[in-house]
Parts: sequence; structure tokens; C-alpha cells
Amino acid sequence: MGAVSASPPDRSEPRPMSEPSRPIRIVVLCGTNRPGAQTRRLAAHVHASYAAVEGVEAQLLDLADLPVELLAPGSYAQKPAGFQAFAEAVLKADGLVVLSPEYNGSFPGVLKLFIDMLPFPVAFERRPVAFIGLAAGRWGALRAIEQLQGVFGYRNAFMFPNRVFVPGVGDALDADGGPKDGATRAMIAAQVRDFVVFARQLAPLRPGQA
Ligand SMILES: Cc1cc2nc3c(=O)[nH]c(=O)nc-3n(C[C@H](O)[C@H](O)[C@H](O)COP(=O)(O)O)c2cc1C
Repeated sequence: MGAVSASPPDRSEPRPMSEPSRPIRIVVLCGTNRPGAQTRRLAAHVHASYAAVEGVEAQLLDLADLPVELLAPGSYAQKPAGFQAFAEAVLKADGLVVLSPEYNGSFPGVLKLFIDMLPFPVAFERRPVAFIGLAAGRWGALRAIEQLQGVFGYRNAFMFPNRVFVPGVGDALDADGGPKDGATRAMIAAQVRDFVVFARQLAPLRPGQA
């Protein structure tokens, strides 16, 4: 027999992934521009929860701050100047947390406009996304979030499986915007804790991050 060759690589070994050593960037998105929205109050609570985690840089994006010119037909080709900061925040995010109310059995039209205006396909390609739904009604925006999951699934986002729903939101939030109900508060705290791990672990799989 000839010389023994070197052992082939063990294909059963998981592919080594190097998590980023830099802080993880989490963007919390208030998915409506409605003045006085409960979504904005809860988004502030969620943003503060992420900001309190060591090793996380949290940023709050509010669709109320979008330039109104974004609705102009010319925006498909040429984005208004004020949109650049939104696009950059999403493109740099290791994780995106979308808070959406339910409007007419779906998510707000302004949120779809925002999604449509972001760069395709990089905005959501392999980007970790978590969802929180809230509504006046008893289903807590389940319909809105499931429709959003269809959109983000189409766009190849990495969807975090544990969603949180806040029904009857008119009377559900404290002065700090957090849920009064202890169980819902704990669900958000668990989502924050676990989504940071999820986003950190999956960051190396995003295009351009290897
Ligand atoms: C245009 C519009 C449509 C709405 N449609 C629904 C609905 O389909 N189901 C529901 O439970 N609540 C609906 N609501 C009530 C919202 O759930 C309620 O305003 C809640 O506070 C969350 O939305 P907000 O962040 O705008 O406050 C609607 C509100 C608006 C402004």
C-alpha cells in the first residue's frame, strides 16, 4: 500500500463561526407614525431594555421621523435626504426589533412604505428580526405580525421565533411604557435577553460579515 494520506477533514464538525467582538447593534423600530401611539411608548421601554444590556448598542427608530417626501412617487428612484439615516441604521443592525400595532387587520401602511423604500435585497437578507405586536383588540396584533413575518420571510430575514403580543393595549402600559402585566413584561425581558444571543450568533452569516 502507498503512503497513508492525511485524514480528511471531519465533515461532522460544525462550521466555526466567529461572533463579532464589537458591541451588537440592535435597532428598535416604532412601526407607526401615529401621534400619541401606544407603539411608541412600548418601543421606548423595549429600547431602554436593550440599552441596559452590556455589549449592546441600542438605537430607536420612529417612523414619525420619516421625511414626508418619502411618499412622493419620485422616492422609488431618489430617496429624500432624511431617509439616509434610517437606511444606514437598518443596514448596520445586527438585529432589528419591529414593534407593530394592528391597523385594519394588518400592519400600518407607513411600515410597508418604509420596508419598500429600504435597499433590496440587503436590508433584511439574513438579518435577525424579532417582533412585538400590540393592539386595542384581544389578539394583540397577531394578524399584523404574521403578515409581517410573510414579508420578512420573503426577504430572507432570520426570524426570531418568540414573538410577544400585547392585547387591550389602551390600558396595558405603565408610565414607563412597559406592560403592567408581569407575565407580558417577563416575555419582553426574555425576548430581549435571547434575541441578543440570537443576533450575536447569526451575525457571521450575514453577507459581508464573514
Ligand atoms: C387606522 C387604525 C386602524 C386600526 N385598526 C385596528 C384593528 O384592526 N384591530 C385592533 O385591534 N385595533 C385597531 N386599531 C387600534 C389600535 O390597535 C390602537 O390604536 C392601539 O393603541 C395600537 O396602535 P397605536 O400604536 O397607534 O396606539 C386601529 C387604529 C388605527 C389608528
